[in-house]
Amino acid sequence: MERVETCVRYIREKTGFEPHTALVLGSGLGGFADNVKIEAVVEYGEIEGFPVSTVSGHKGRFVLGYVGKEPVAVMQGRVHYYEGYPMRDVVLPIRVMARLGARRLILTNAAGGIHPDFAAGALMLLTDHISSFIPSPLLGPNEEAFGLRFPDMSEVYSRRLRTVAEEEAGKLGIPLKQGVYLQTTGPNYETPAEIRMFRTLGADAVGMSTACEAMTARHLGLEVCGISCITNLAAGISKAPLSHEEVKATADRVAEDFQALLRAMISRMTEL
Ligand code: 6GU
Repeated sequence: MERVETCVRYIREKTGFEPHTALVLGSGLGGFADNVKIEAVVEYGEIEGFPVSTVSGHKGRFVLGYVGKEPVAVMQGRVHYYEGYPMRDVVLPIRVMARLGARRLILTNAAGGIHPDFAAGALMLLTDHISSFIPSPLLGPNEEAFGLRFPDMSEVYSRRLRTVAEEEAGKLGIPLKQGVYLQTTGPNYETPAEIRMFRTLGADAVGMSTACEAMTARHLGLEVCGISCITNLAAGISKAPLSHEEVKATADRVAEDFQALLRAMISRMTEL
């Protein structure tokens, strides 16, 4: 709570900008920030106590400004649990954006495809997630100012925002898959046996972020939407070894569609 407040105070010294929608850009998807009419930029490194990423393909800054008429806070880069930060630090930025004014959160990520119909380059709207392979970001004393001790997770990914995503993808002619995202701790990719297990458990895609942020946002009462870029097929489904290079190359290839979809979705946010 205190760390969140310190970060908010620092950002507030630089700008009074109040975002309504928060957006987290995943691996290789940071280019979307070019669509923002910028009001302020705050580097994570400037903010005392703010976690800073070390992964290639991840910048580390908040871009505050407008997409159309919608005031947004965009995270260009995020930190991951595998970097060694405690979960509390991994999700701190979500709490900061909520305190700045965000009521909605759009989470994006690069993920490995498990569903047999998925190909590299597909976009997947998250219908739900499996977080059972990571520690809950809500472990420890509950901060009542954030939310309930035992928050409901029966509709993490808002039905209403999913409908907006489907409608806008339809209008743009962008194919949009749907499915369940499973978060692992990383940093290693999975074995084929693990991927078969995840498939049996009901996962359609696997990645190293997002579920923890979505849970934190639901705890805070934010409305959440999640979209994965299936950058590669998961182990055993793909014939080739997995690499971060492939993840970045596919994200680049799909960036144009992904950005168009996000722009269209965010334009719709103004009326919500
Ligand atoms: Cl195959 N697994 C995980 N855990 N994260 C990924 C991925 C796979 N591909 C992209 N991100």
